[in-house]
Amino acid sequence: MKKIIIASDHGAVALKSEIIFFFKANKFEVNDMGVDSEDSVDYPDIALLACNEFKKGGYDFGILLCGTGIGISITANKIKGIRCALIHDLFTAEMAKAHNDANFIAFGGRVKYNVPVTQMIEKFMSTEFAGGRHLRRVEKMMAVEESTQSNSFRWDI
Ligand code: RB5
Repeated sequence: MKKIIIASDHGAVALKSEIIFFFKANKFEVNDMGVDSEDSVDYPDIALLACNEFKKGGYDFGILLCGTGIGISITANKIKGIRCALIHDLFTAEMAKAHNDANFIAFGGRVKYNVPVTQMIEKFMSTEFAGGRHLRRVEKMMAVEESTQSNSFRWDI
């Protein structure tokens, strides 16, 4: 059974429910890491929470949501090992898997999309990573992360 992790800030609570409904209807296991209220929270906290859980293993991919998808995807991409793609249509949903082998995809709860978010998710899930030259590029992307990230960052200070 496929297992997905999902998390949102206050800007996409309704979209998160819609996505979870879709996954449950399709018999996916979903780990919903919140939030469920429109009380203001900080999207970097949500990204960190979900990405750290994802890195424990056992998930096929993750979905991150905020008002635009921008802040939460930028944050996720600062976390080692995460490749979070901000999706806005069926083409970018397909390319995020085929070319970038994204392990997270992001959407915005306040964005007006031309296709339902669940269709973009289906497109991402039904696409295979193309490998070949794209694998070389993904490996280079991760090498950039390795060479530029320091482990000395302290979140708690
Ligand atoms: C929160 O108001 C909003 O800034 C956040 O959800 C997101 O859109 C940031 O990128």
